Amino acid sequence: MSIFETIDSCSDCKLVTLLLYLALAVGVYKTTTATLGFAALVADCFLLPAVNFAKYGAAKKAKYWAVVTGASDGIGKEYALQLAKKGLNVVLVSRTQSKLELLAADIESRYGVATQVLAFDVSTDETANYEQLSAVISTLPVTVLVNNVGQSHSIPVPFLETEEKEMRDIITINNTATLRITQVVALQIVATVAGKSVRGLILSMGSFGGLLPTPYLATYSGSKAFLQQWSAALAGELKPQGVDVELVISYLVTSAMSKIRRTSVTIPNPKTFVASVLRSAGRRNGAQERFGTTTPFWSHALMHWGIENTVGVYSKIANTLNLNMHKSIRARALKKAKRDAKKE
Ligand SMILES: NC(=O)c1ccc[n+]([C@@H]2O[C@H](COP(=O)([O-])OP(=O)(O)OC[C@H]3O[C@@H](n4cnc5c(N)ncnc54)[C@H](OP(=O)(O)O)[C@@H]3O)[C@@H](O)[C@H]2O)c1
Repeated sequence: MSIFETIDSCSDCKLVTLLLYLALAVGVYKTTTATLGFAALVADCFLLPAVNFAKYGAAKKAKYWAVVTGASDGIGKEYALQLAKKGLNVVLVSRTQSKLELLAADIESRYGVATQVLAFDVSTDETANYEQLSAVISTLPVTVLVNNVGQSHSIPVPFLETEEKEMRDIITINNTATLRITQVVALQIVATVAGKSVRGLILSMGSFGGLLPTPYLATYSGSKAFLQQWSAALAGELKPQGVDVELVISYLVTSAMSKIRRTSVTIPNPKTFVASVLRSAGRRNGAQERFGTTTPFWSHALMHWGIENTVGVYSKIANTLNLNMHKSIRARALKKAKRDAKKE
């Protein structure tokens, strides 16, 4: 007996039969989109060849420039190194001049590209900083911007106990500064690519903390969710002007911010993580349902797809699991702080 005959024989009531057909159609639609999404994820993560960065201006004799924020450490440092290796000159931005100078010298000697460094604290949100950035890049043909700088809570904390400075810094660094830096650099990118075959690329670092509402990291979670909406909206605006804009969603990566040193299947180091971003720039990987968004690292991609196609990112189940996980991380962090205080 076919599925249609089974439905027809279920009830004499036309309304019940109609509802059963509707349920079948929804089921077929959901299964089809989930399967196609998974196939696209597999293609993006494992099958398609690496994106050729020549389209963003990379060349053996570097001519075009990339600007990387939060460039002196962790994920940002890797963006700078790997973009330079591909053949882009780099403007390195972060707080510490000495760290930037060391990295710039290393990049120049290793990859033979040019560098510029600019040290300022983005949490101050001073107009003079953005004017300085504008002056540094005013004569450079910039094609790539990586909005990497970001701050999270020092440890998971209930929102009502979050210190005002931490709250303000997170919003200023993750949001206000990202917007202001993008206004300065994107203008230059648009001017650089206008009328040429080269494209622009703007990557901004999102997070699973922004993908899923994350209790005990509420301000960070909100700041990264803001970036999701803003970046996707900007992607729509700048596409016709030859600029690809993408939010990069990541679960944990070993770094000073995550305070994790050991890699695992779900926690890559910055080198592996950034390689996965650049390999598939412009594709969606685990973020198949989102325009202008990627979850590039393969295990993060599977996690993203799995959550999206089961309980959903906004579900009560996901929220409760996240709450329990961050409560337990907070308890361990507080215990460790107590032990460290006793040692001193
Ligand atoms: N690591 C993870 O597990 C993870 C997961 C998801 C998303 N992310 C996102 O990835 C991005 C990079 O994270 P990360 O783990 O690589 O961080 P990180 O290792 O702590 O590095 C942060 C970088 O930003 C610079 N920086 C920090 N505060 C600054 C400020 N106020 N002004 C200017 N520069 C500042 C730091 O250099 P100076 O100290 O010299 O200024 C450093 O270069 C962030 O946006 C983060 O939210 C990270």
